[in-house]
Amino acid sequence: MRKLTIAGYEVNRIGYGCMGLSQAYEPCDETQGIDTLNAVLDMGYNHLDTAALYGFGANENLLRKAVGHRRNEYHLASKCGLFKNAEGKREINGRPEVLKQTCDDSLSRLGVEHIDLYYLHRKDPNVPIEESLGALIELKDAGKIGAIGLSEVAPDTLQRALDMTPIAALQSEYSLWSRLPEEGVMDLCRQHNIALVAYSPVARGLLGGALRDMDSLASNDLRHTMPRFQAGNFEANLERVDALGRYAASLGMSLAQASLAWLLAQAPFILPIPGTRFEARALENLQALDVELTPEQVEKIGELVSPNNIAGERYNPAIMREVDAEKWRWTT
Ligand SMILES: NC(=O)c1ccc[n+]([C@@H]2O[C@H](COP(=O)([O-])OP(=O)(O)OC[C@H]3O[C@@H](n4cnc5c(N)ncnc54)[C@H](OP(=O)(O)O)[C@@H]3O)[C@@H](O)[C@H]2O)c1
Repeated sequence: MRKLTIAGYEVNRIGYGCMGLSQAYEPCDETQGIDTLNAVLDMGYNHLDTAALYGFGANENLLRKAVGHRRNEYHLASKCGLFKNAEGKREINGRPEVLKQTCDDSLSRLGVEHIDLYYLHRKDPNVPIEESLGALIELKDAGKIGAIGLSEVAPDTLQRALDMTPIAALQSEYSLWSRLPEEGVMDLCRQHNIALVAYSPVARGLLGGALRDMDSLASNDLRHTMPRFQAGNFEANLERVDALGRYAASLGMSLAQASLAWLLAQAPFILPIPGTRFEARALENLQALDVELTPEQVEKIGELVSPNNIAGERYNPAIMREVDAEKWRWTT
């Protein structure tokens, strides 16, 4: 139960999310990024998740520089379809020629000839999923990628994709406070042997326990744009998290470990990918693999923090509109 096979590769059921080393949260300089990436491989992580989007290429460059020489020690996942455009802005674009170019750019930044798992980061609302997938199938046939993944798609989109080609992984936000995958895609993952890769599994830090004050974060920290972290909601959500923290302590585990162990207990095909700048926290997160919860404990953890008692949506309205799975939720 501690391992999972994705398209022929056996990996630990907790992977490492690299995004925060290059963007989104508190700053991380290159030396710290290099040290942390090497430390996570040393302690046993063997699945690294990056994307063309992260740091607009900086994250993939960092991986090459930090752990390119250790390429045989990890399963490498990256993403296309959300990237920096010619004007230097973030853009969703699922047109086949754009996806193929993004892949070539990623291969070059990563310094590799092959990416093991390649996701469509966001479904482009203006491009049928079949067209975007056609490009990923070509990349797979050309040996540039090993397996195809999708991120944040609705069940009907995932089904259309499955009608066309095998999908190795579905990456979506999934944690105690974000449970949308339970409404449809999880059943498809179970039926079709798809890994459900849970992103933001410690609630972008709130379920880590260290974030107590939003004023401590830089003004450009991504969390300021997210309703759950905004004034009023943040304080209410912190109370829920503190209640879980007290319960986790009574079980002899950390808040992050209880949160990750709860995810692992939901189904054997779930693979959380927490990210942290710190070696000690990465180890704490990885050790959630050794936590054993009784069914009663799983239930109690799931009650203490849940979408039913959390204030605010996970994204602001503009970002929500970009997410295929969220559009599906509003219209069904
Ligand atoms: N497909 C998508 O659309 C998508 C979207 C977002 C993310 N992702 C992927 O998912 C990965 C993880 O998501 P995420 O980084 O958003 O969220 P996360 O892992 O839930 O949270 C990261 C934050 O939690 C803190 N943290 C992590 N472990 C901790 C611990 N044990 N104790 C205290 N604080 C802890 C980190 O702070 P410190 O660095 O200060 O420890 C960081 O600010 C990303 O790296 C990325 O690869 C994918």
